[in-house]
Amino acid sequence: MKMLFIMNVSVLLLLIFPSIISKVIDFSKCSQFFHQGQPPVIPDILENSRSKNSQYKTICQNYENEYRFATLYDTTNRIPVFSAYRFTGNKTIERPVNTWRIEPELELLTSDEMRVSYEKQATDEDYIDNNYKVNRGHLFPVCHSSDEFTANSTFTLTNIVPQKISFNKGSWNRLEIKAIKVMDKYCHEKNDKKKVLAHVLTGAVPGNNKLNNRVNIPSSMWMTFCCYNSTSSSWASQAYWAPNEDEKKSDNVTISQRSLEELQEFLSRKWVKITKLFYNNCK
Ligand SMILES: *[C@@H]1O[C@H](CO)[C@@H](O)[C@H](O)[C@H]1NC(C)=O
Ligand SMILES: *[C@@H]1O[C@H](CO)[C@@H](O)[C@H](O)[C@H]1NC(C)=O
Ligand SMILES: *[C@@H]1O[C@H](CO)[C@@H](O)[C@H](O)[C@H]1NC(C)=O
Ligand SMILES: *[C@@H]1O[C@H](CO)[C@@H](O)[C@H](O)[C@H]1NC(C)=O
Repeated sequence: MKMLFIMNVSVLLLLIFPSIISKVIDFSKCSQFFHQGQPPVIPDILENSRSKNSQYKTICQNYENEYRFATLYDTTNRIPVFSAYRFTGNKTIERPVNTWRIEPELELLTSDEMRVSYEKQATDEDYIDNNYKVNRGHLFPVCHSSDEFTANSTFTLTNIVPQKISFNKGSWNRLEIKAIKVMDKYCHEKNDKKKVLAHVLTGAVPGNNKLNNRVNIPSSMWMTFCCYNSTSSSWASQAYWAPNEDEKKSDNVTISQRSLEELQEFLSRKWVKITKLFYNNCK
């Protein structure tokens, strides 16, 4: 009897969500988005490519039947912790006019209602509330995407945090562009110096306010990359973080460059202890 019930629910899931590839699975299924195939190590949260705490879900972000990037998602704060992706060079991709996707697999299907209520993630409606002057800030941005499919894949609310509008289009946008220039110039595959490659992690630190009483507004955002520097013939990393605060255009804020170690210390101080963002600290 019990078996039958479980079978019914899974059949139903398949009918309602026709996606063939499952997404909320451990990171070993999409290890290509991490330096040396190794996701960050965050004690009691993420170890050995797996979530150690049911609050956090590992998502291999699938779009059009391929994995495009990876996200560690916090279902209590309803924002991503980080998105991990490969940067393979500056490509001119038109910003797609896109609708925002959500992630049905994060939810439990309530068998009585036979529909999903979005308890474990942000929805489009949450972002209508705008007392906080925030909009949808991408962690994995369109401008770091390698093709149109990947660009489209970034339009999932599981890759989005409430970001101050002026910060999103100001210093953070300039940082995204600066990172393109640096990675394009120095970051190449170790065995093929014609090919640009960097592994990037972009994340957010939860703050004290909530959008629509549901979605955490991060106190800061951070970005780091690890790559083989073909100029110095050694592994190299850079790191950045900035508060999620309003800024004036005339301030022309520049986000300072920091080391990977400094970022790990910052996150350990402001959020939780991080053992490693990149395998072997990108050495
Ligand atoms: C990307 O999204 C846009 C808007 O939804 C759509 O028109 C386009 O076909 C998509 N492209 C790919 C490659 O999926
Ligand atoms: C990326 O390439 C486009 C087209 O070649 C160019 O206009 C743009 O300035 C480049 N961006 C960066 C950050 O190098
Ligand atoms: C790569 O190495 C060169 C030469 O040592 C250095 O000037 C540059 O800043 C390095 N790039 C990165 C991203 O570390
Ligand atoms: C903003 O700052 C950058 C770097 O500090 C500088 O190159 C740029 O010219 C400044 N832009 C304006 C509009 O002041």
